[in-house]
Amino acid sequence: MRPTKQIYKNYTENDFLVWKTLFNRQMEILKPIASSEFLKALEEVKFSSEKIPDFLEVDALLKPSTGWSIETVPNISPQKIFFEFLSKKKFTSTCWLRTMEQLDYLEEPDMFHDVFAHVPLLSNQNYVNFFKGLSDIALKNIDNPKAVELLGRIYWFTIEFGLILENDEIKVYGAGIISSKGESEFCMSKQAVLIEFDVDLILHTDFRTDVIQDKYFVVESFEQLYNSLAEIEKELEKVLEKDMDFVL
Ligand SMILES: [Fe+2]
Repeated sequence: MRPTKQIYKNYTENDFLVWKTLFNRQMEILKPIASSEFLKALEEVKFSSEKIPDFLEVDALLKPSTGWSIETVPNISPQKIFFEFLSKKKFTSTCWLRTMEQLDYLEEPDMFHDVFAHVPLLSNQNYVNFFKGLSDIALKNIDNPKAVELLGRIYWFTIEFGLILENDEIKVYGAGIISSKGESEFCMSKQAVLIEFDVDLILHTDFRTDVIQDKYFVVESFEQLYNSLAEIEKELEKVLEKDMDFVL
């Protein structure tokens, strides 16, 4: 059974070692390639290799700045619950860590992914404006599986695997890249296909969760993401209407 609440004293020496190993290894890779917004956010939430983040302390930093907080869950949440919490500015996160034998790949996200990769940017107002807006749209459409699938593509290619242009350089902000050694290295390689952020194209682009991604969408800023919310809603409606026509 995975823990449903973070009980800090339950972390073992081995957990601290896993956190430290992953943190140091990722930081080495991320320093030159991560978005400056992410690196700044990492300092905002005071993460370090020496300490597994204590959710109470993280909440105490996040709440006064953007109003967000962490909601501990045992495993990945069903979509409805996930978006309901996000809409209330609560990010659902696990509080357990992988073992040393699982450093490189896990089938389900642990707290190195949820916390190290997702939580820092919850201190960035422009980022959370988009995150909340997208969640509100998802919640409005939650009973329509096709709509949720399409919005899942937007989520995937931004929050999880998004890249951002900073001073003419491509940088990483997506959590699926931030927490993964393989993904961080691949997305900067010549084989990676980089595409300008395009709502309509993303809505028509399927993805796989069990392989390294082969394409990434690049935004110019988090404001651009926020400003795209109206277009996301409009384009979503269009695709759904087309689908209806097809059925009729
Ligand atoms: Fe994630």
